[in-house]
Amino acid sequence: MKRRLNKIISSMTLEEKVSLCSGVGAWNTIALPAHEIPSIMLTDGPHGLRKQMGAQDHMGMNQSVPATCFPTAAGLACSWNRDLVERVGVALGEECQAEGVQILLGPGTNIKRSPLCGRNFEYFSEDPYLSSELTAKHIKGVQSQGVGASLKHFAVNNQETRRFNLNVVLDERTLREIYLASFEGAIKQAQPWTVMAAYNKINGEYCSENQTLLNDILREEWGFEGFVVSDWGAVSERDVALSAGMDLEMPGSNGVGSEKILNAINNGDLSEETLDSAVERILTVIFKAQENIKHQAAYDPDAHHRLAREAAAESMVLLKNEDQILPLRKQGKIALIGAFTKNPRYQGAGSSRVNPTKLDNPYLEITQKAKEAQFKYAKGYSLETDQINVDLILEAQKVAKESEVAIIFVGLPEKYDAEGVDRKHLELPNNQNLLIEAVAEVQKNIVIVILNGSAVEMPWLNKAKGILEAYLGGQAMAGAIADILFGDKNPSGKLAETFPMKLSHTPSYINFPGESDKVEYREGVFVGYRHYDKVEIEPLFPFGYGLSYTTYEYSDLSFNHKEISDSQEVIVTLKVKNMGNRAGKEIVQLYVRDNESSVIRPVKELKGFEKIELDPGEEKLVTFTVGKRAFAYYNVDLMDWYVETGEFEILIGKSSREIILKDTIVVNSTVELKKKYTLDSTLGDIKTHPIAVPFISNLLAGMGLDDSSNGGPFGMDKDSLLNSIKLRNFESQRTMPKDMLNELLKGLNE
Ligand code: GLC
Repeated sequence: MKRRLNKIISSMTLEEKVSLCSGVGAWNTIALPAHEIPSIMLTDGPHGLRKQMGAQDHMGMNQSVPATCFPTAAGLACSWNRDLVERVGVALGEECQAEGVQILLGPGTNIKRSPLCGRNFEYFSEDPYLSSELTAKHIKGVQSQGVGASLKHFAVNNQETRRFNLNVVLDERTLREIYLASFEGAIKQAQPWTVMAAYNKINGEYCSENQTLLNDILREEWGFEGFVVSDWGAVSERDVALSAGMDLEMPGSNGVGSEKILNAINNGDLSEETLDSAVERILTVIFKAQENIKHQAAYDPDAHHRLAREAAAESMVLLKNEDQILPLRKQGKIALIGAFTKNPRYQGAGSSRVNPTKLDNPYLEITQKAKEAQFKYAKGYSLETDQINVDLILEAQKVAKESEVAIIFVGLPEKYDAEGVDRKHLELPNNQNLLIEAVAEVQKNIVIVILNGSAVEMPWLNKAKGILEAYLGGQAMAGAIADILFGDKNPSGKLAETFPMKLSHTPSYINFPGESDKVEYREGVFVGYRHYDKVEIEPLFPFGYGLSYTTYEYSDLSFNHKEISDSQEVIVTLKVKNMGNRAGKEIVQLYVRDNESSVIRPVKELKGFEKIELDPGEEKLVTFTVGKRAFAYYNVDLMDWYVETGEFEILIGKSSREIILKDTIVVNSTVELKKKYTLDSTLGDIKTHPIAVPFISNLLAGMGLDDSSNGGPFGMDKDSLLNSIKLRNFESQRTMPKDMLNELLKGLNE
C-alpha cells in the first residue's frame, strides 16, 4: 500500500493534494478520477445512520433515509454489556454498507461533566473506564463491517453552550485521567479509522489546531494511525490546523481553507511534506474503505429492530420496586397516563437524529402484551407546553382512581435533550411533576417510566412504588418497556451516570457552563461519583446502581497475589450466585482505592466490570485481571502514569455505593521519582535523604531535640518544625557557609 500511495501522491499536483484535504458538500471527500481516487461518504450518527439524499444539513433538520434507531449511548451504556454494544456496532456497519456510507460519525465518548449538557444522551458515562470500554466495542463492531468509525468529539467537549468558541481551562492530570482517558482506551483497543476534532479550545488552543492534542498525544503517544476530521465547521485557520495534524476539513469551505494551505506552502510557512502526510493518511482510509465496500449489501430491518429491542431492554434501569410492584400481572385494571405513552421520546435532537425504519408505540405494545387487562388512558400533560392543564390532570386522576395500578410515562421534551443547547435545571416539566403528585392523591400503586437523555430530579420519589429509567431507548423502546413491566425481560441495567439529589450537588455546579467563552474545570478529577464520594454527598441514585427481579450473592473474593510490582498483574476472582427464581444478568463492578496516596485522589475509581448471566440458583466464577493502570495516577512531572508504592484496596460492588467484598494489596513502584531539591526545599523535604540524615540529626541535637522527641519550640511537633525551615534560611542567616550549602544541594540532587 505504501508504495502505491507514494506513487499516487508523487503524481498529484499541489492543488490536487490540497483539494483532498477539504470536503465536497456536507458529507463527501473529493473524487480524483485521474488518480483513481474515489469519493467517500462520511455521515452521522452514533446510534443510527443519518444519510441525507435531499437537502443536506448537519443539525438533523432535513430528512434522511430510513435506518434503525438504536438506544442512544446514555442508555446503551447502562447495559454495561461489551458484546451487546459491539453487536449494535455491527448492525450500524451493515446499514452503512447497504447505504453506501464509508465512515460513520460516531461514537461520541465525551465525559458527562454535568448532567446539564444537552448532548449527554449521545455520550456513555461520567466514568472514563466504562466509557472507553464500551466505545472501543462500538468502534470494533462498526469497523468489523468494513466501515470506518469517527471517534468524537476529541476532546473535552462537555457542554453545548458556546461550543464553537469555548475555551476549556483544565489541569493536565484532569485532562489525562478523566477527559482523554475516555478516548485513549478506545483508540488503543479499537484503532478507529478516523477521529473527529472538537469545536472548542483546550487551554487556549482550538482542538482542530492543537499540535499537542493531535500529533503529540493522539499519534505519537497513543499510536493513532487514521486521519483526523474536523467537526463540521470547526476549522478556523486551515493552514495551522493542517500543521497541527488536522487532515480533513468538513464540510468543504468553498476553497477558503485550500487557499490558506496553498498560500502557506507557497510562502514557506507550511512544508509540502506536512501536506503529503495528511494526504497519505486520508488516502490510506479512502482506499481501505474502497477495498471494503460490499456491493449489493443489504440488511434485515426486522432483525435490526429485534436487536434494538434487546438492546433497549438491557439498557433500562429499574430504580425502584417497592412492594415488588413490578413485574405487573397481565390482567386487572391498568391506567396508562402521559402523552409520551402514545407519542414516545426515543432519541435526541440534532445531528444524531435518525429516521427510524419503524417506531413502536408504548400504548400499543403494553395493551397488546396484556390482552386480558382493562386499560384506561389519559394524556395527563401537553407536549407542546410545560403549562399545567387542569382538565388533563383531572382526567388522569379519574382513570387512575378507577384502576388498580397507574403507569405514568414522563420525560424530557425534545428541547431539553438536544445538540446545541444545555439545560438550566434538572427538573422534569412542571406539568409532569404535578401530574404525578395529583395521581398519587388517588392511587398508591404508581409505576413511573422516564424517557430522558440525562439525569433528572424526582421530587415525587416517595409517591411511586416503581421507577423504570428507560432513557432514549430507540425505535423499539416501547416493546422493551412492555417486556420489562410485565416480566418477559428481567431488567439488568445499572446507571452509567450519577443521578444527583439536586443540581447544586453536582461537581461542576459553580463552573457550568462558565463565563462568556471560558469554562474552568475547577472540580479537577472529581467528576461524577468521584465527587459525591469525596465530599460525602448522598446521590439520588448512585453510579452503577440498578435493581433486578432477582437477587445475587457475592462471595469468595480472592487474589492470586497480595503484593505485586507495578509491572505485574493481579488476578481477582469471586463467586456470584443467583438467589432468586428468575434468570437474570448481573453487572459486577471492580473499584480501586489508593490507601496511601501523596496526591489528592478519588475515594475509589472503576477499573473493571463484568456482566454475567445466571439461571436461578446458578453460581459462576467472575475473574478480573488488574494491571498498572488500575493503580496509577497521571504524574505531571513524570508526564506519565505512575503507581505510588503502597497499599491499595480492591473493592467489588453491586454499585459504587454498595461495596460487597474488598481486600488489600501492596503495589511496589518500579519507577523512581527524581525529586529536584533547591534552596526552597525544607528540611522536611530532605529528612529521609541519606545525605541529609546526619545533618538534620546534628541540627536537632543543637536545638536540644533528638530524632524521637516532638517537643519543638512553640510546642511544634518535629515534622512541622522541619517543614518550617528552608535551606535558604541557612543562607540568609549565614548559619552555613555558601559552599557547604551548595555541596549539600549537589549531593541531594545526584
Ligand atoms: C455536528 C456535530 C457532530 C456531527 C457533525 C456532522 O455539529 O457536532 O457530532 O457528526 O456536526 O453532522
